[in-house]
Amino acid sequence: MRILPIHQVLPGMRLGRSVQDQEGRLIIAAGITLNRRLLSLLEEQGYTALHIADGFDDVDLPELVSLETKHEVMRSIRQFVEIEALHARRQTLSLLPGNFGLSPGINMISKARYEVCMNVMRAAEMLVGDIMSRKEVLIGMVDIKSLRDFSFGHSVQVALIALVIGRILGYNTKELRELGIGALLHDVGKTAVSTTLWMKPGELTREEFATVRDHPEAGFEILRKTSLGLMPAHVAYQHHERWDGSGYPRGLTGERISSYARVTAVCDVLDAMTSDRPYKAAMHPLEALSFIVENSGVLFDPRVVAAFSRVVAPFPVATGVILSTNETAVVKRLNPDSLERPVVTVTKDPDGHYYPHPRTIDLAAHPEIQIVSYAEWYTAPNLDEVLNMNRLVRGAMDRAVTGE
Ligand SMILES: [Fe+2]
Repeated sequence: MRILPIHQVLPGMRLGRSVQDQEGRLIIAAGITLNRRLLSLLEEQGYTALHIADGFDDVDLPELVSLETKHEVMRSIRQFVEIEALHARRQTLSLLPGNFGLSPGINMISKARYEVCMNVMRAAEMLVGDIMSRKEVLIGMVDIKSLRDFSFGHSVQVALIALVIGRILGYNTKELRELGIGALLHDVGKTAVSTTLWMKPGELTREEFATVRDHPEAGFEILRKTSLGLMPAHVAYQHHERWDGSGYPRGLTGERISSYARVTAVCDVLDAMTSDRPYKAAMHPLEALSFIVENSGVLFDPRVVAAFSRVVAPFPVATGVILSTNETAVVKRLNPDSLERPVVTVTKDPDGHYYPHPRTIDLAAHPEIQIVSYAEWYTAPNLDEVLNMNRLVRGAMDRAVTGE
């Protein structure tokens, strides 16, 4: 199985992994042969990449969370946003003189708000359960990119990466649940800001920018009045704060920023940088990884970056790569202790012909063979970039260990 950008997928290719919508509902099942109509439909819907079954189906591509969990999470966040918007409208109306007749409605909304919060908690618990039940948790950059992003998709991605990092940091189940809820709802304040502003291509005016910067506080105001506890509210409030104090809204520094918000900040930046947005194209995943690692101890908590570097792989499973032997290979499995040297299946010879019997090489056991670039999906970064990235990762880990 390989991950291909949708424009490289041809009619007749077979889908290797089911396609789901933002709410986790099945759109097209794995195994279906794609035709032109299906492909243009998916492209229209904004899907950027697909898993294609290509005869090398033994690559290990486990999903981080189950379809059921994804569905529950999406549903509960949508409900939360809807009920809070309704509540806010009702409250504004009830403040008008002579509107006492609205109070029964408000009571019903209060009950519904409580129930929705319970649903969010249950969904976060499912998410934590899924992540804790995995033997090892590694995130591939393409896994992140291949999902539809923005709004709900974005928050689920951020929560997923946050929980994986939380697990590495040794958080207990209660802490993971709090982190999960906070990360899922970190951008809920955006609902208070006009959507046209978030989708606006090009530069924002000074006033528009100021409005966008209000969303952490708006999120705090929404969340602190719910039964979700104060921790998620602080994540919303502080997820744009930066380690060196250069963030907003309050310019908090270092450990004055809640640890959950410090984790969420890294995941938010990674997801935002590697996603296409109406106002900017997605950044190369290696660039995004390097940016985060370079800013360890500057913008981001070094311990969080070190944990992040242990789980986000520069060459995720199913990525096509070019080896220093000029052969093409597909990443089959990651080596947890050496993410940049995975196990690969060598599929094509240096002239681009498929091998009749592809062989598998563990690059961790073959230091003489290097990955020099990505074979497809990405414009190839050069070897220096990859090596530089690895140096940066190791530096961040050392700094975190020595506590610098
Ligand atoms: Fe945000």
